[in-house]
Order: sequence, then C-alpha cells, then structure tokens
Amino acid sequence: MQAAHVFANAERYDRHAGRLAARLYAKVVADAAAAGLPDGARVLDAGTGPGRIPRDLAMVRPTWTIDAVDREPRMIDFARRQDTRGRVTFAVGDVAALPYPDETFDLIVSSISQHHWGDVEGGIRDLRRVLRPGGRLWIYDARWALRRAVRAAERTFDSVRKEPVAVGHWPLSLLVSRLSARA
Ligand SMILES: C[S@@+](CC[C@H](N)C(=O)[O-])C[C@H]1O[C@@H](n2cnc3c(N)ncnc32)[C@H](O)[C@@H]1O
Repeated sequence: MQAAHVFANAERYDRHAGRLAARLYAKVVADAAAAGLPDGARVLDAGTGPGRIPRDLAMVRPTWTIDAVDREPRMIDFARRQDTRGRVTFAVGDVAALPYPDETFDLIVSSISQHHWGDVEGGIRDLRRVLRPGGRLWIYDARWALRRAVRAAERTFDSVRKEPVAVGHWPLSLLVSRLSARA
C-alpha cells in the first residue's frame, strides 16, 4: 500500500499515534525545547503528519517561529484545523524538495517519518540546504531504518551521530534512535 493512502485518514492516525507515540512526542518536544535556542529561533518539523510535535513545541516555546511540512495534503489540512494559536505554519511538500529558502532553520526535527521517504539521500541533502550554519538536524526513527539516512548524512554534514532514545517502556524504548547532525 502506498504511504499516501495509509496517511490519508489523518484523524484516525492522530488518534492512534497520539496514544502509541505519546512518549516519543514528549521526548522530541522536550529535546527541542532544551536545545538552547534564542527567542526568534526557526524550527522545522519534517514529515509532521497531523502536527502534534510542532503544536506542543509552540506551546512551550512561544517565541520561536515554527514550521511543519508533510507531503500528504490531508495531514496538513488536519494539522491546520488544530489549535496552534497561530504559532505554527504548515506547508505541503516533500523533504527532498522543501518549500523554504536556503539557510532558514536553526533546528529541524523529524519523527517516525524518515522510513517512508522515497528519496532519503535527496531528503538529507535538502534538509541540509535549509539549515543555517551550525544548525542541527534530529531524525527520530526506528533503529533499523536510520542506517541509510546516517550514511547520507555522513556525506552531507560535518558531524553525525546515532544514539538510542529513551522513550519509556517497550516497544518504543527498544526501537527508536536519533540521528543527530550539525551543519
Ligand atoms: C508515521 S507518520 C509520522 C507523522 C508524525 N511525524 C508523527 O511522529 O506522528 C509519517 C509521515 O511522514 C510523511 N512523509 C512520508 N514521506 C514524506 C516525504 N518524502 N516528505 C514529507 N513527508 C513525508 C507522511 O505523509 C506521514 O504524514
């Protein structure tokens, strides 16, 4: 089945994922909030789905400018209908052809999306393009799925790490790692 079809029912995805991945979402938001970025920082959530992560981050860091992108228009429609207090800007787009100028973001996060990307190398390249010098990319995904992204990031970024992510109990705690790269 095409990923686009799986994610067509954004409301149902949001209901299930909101329960199953709650700890991961909380971890991504806590990590981002603790990144030490100043007021006015620009943050992007890539492959945002129904937009829970940018929404929650916008509540704890109201002085940041937060964008979120997903290639599935129905996810973005759903995300736009949620209450973000006007603090998140959503866009339809592919990670390999992002609708942002070069050197826009201080931090890019992505959660359980990368294993769906059709063009991982192109995605890593374009995420690097939209990062400001010194900006950071954090991709949270299944350990097995991150290998290709790590190899691509090693060709594109100066420093790349892959580390386990503590997100509470089984199964997420066994499954998730974070790719961290600095532009
Ligand atoms: C499993 S959902 C994850 C959504 C959200 N980040 C979360 O943690 O719940 C994967 C999302 O990645 C999006 N996606 C897949 N490939 C993409 C691509 N190449 N560019 C942008 N978004 C993509 C899908 O449309 C889907 O909304």
